[in-house]
Amino acid sequence: MKALIPAAGHGTRFAPWTKLIPKEMLPVGARPAIALIVDEAIEAGADEVVIITSPEKPLLKKWFELNPPKAPIVWVDQLEQHGLGHAVLQAAEHFESESEPVLILLGDALVSGGNASSAMMEISKANGGASVIGCEEVPRERVSRYGIMKSASEISEAFFKLADIVEKPSIEEAPSNLAVAGRYLLDPAVFRYLKDQTAGVGGEIQLTDAIRRMLSEKTVFGYIYPGHRHDIGNPNGYLKALEAMNENG
Ligand code: UTP
Repeated sequence: MKALIPAAGHGTRFAPWTKLIPKEMLPVGARPAIALIVDEAIEAGADEVVIITSPEKPLLKKWFELNPPKAPIVWVDQLEQHGLGHAVLQAAEHFESESEPVLILLGDALVSGGNASSAMMEISKANGGASVIGCEEVPRERVSRYGIMKSASEISEAFFKLADIVEKPSIEEAPSNLAVAGRYLLDPAVFRYLKDQTAGVGGEIQLTDAIRRMLSEKTVFGYIYPGHRHDIGNPNGYLKALEAMNENG
């Protein structure tokens, strides 16, 4: 299985710090956040990790040159930041002929208290290699920050078949409080949808919109994985991540 880590965003929510240090390079103990995310992918079975970055962020590459991980890293540049879907699309040639789902880990999302990707891999394998999106329940007043899922049928308390998914809905329009939580295992068909995906919320090419269109062709599950997601893309989320990683690794 191959993994993909989009890490080319501008990081404006953590400015001005991110004008000097990419958020993915923020220290978590002795190593930068991105090293922990690469470890998570490799532990979950990734034999190659593709990282999407940009020429403004040379530190990421430098880190892994000095500190090689257990699997090869392939670097792909996103030269203009048109959103997560656009970032993922830049790596299409590395994934579209794959027969297995692609593991996508957001470069600014850390998970404490377990390996979310491993748990998602297991549940995907147990369901014929289907796509699985990691999710968490969020307070209703925060749904407009996330991709929000609608469940078609609940299989267990933490596992359900997706009926719909919508990026950053208003509180009134949100189909649930189940939010995408930084980890995806997606059928490579998603690249076909990304290729002609038009801009969505915020004028960005949204991965959520491509997944939504893929639902007409592929079964996708939502899964509340064990552990907690921390968004290190803002100062408060970063501090909370440090506390949590300190407590339970
Ligand atoms: P975010 O929206 O959290 O990242 O995207 P951002 O754009 O850096 O954040 P702000 O809003 O400016 O603070 C989630 C992930 O997708 C990557 C980011 O690096 C992050 O890991 N991303 C986002 C890209 O690689 N390219 C993009 O164009 C946008």
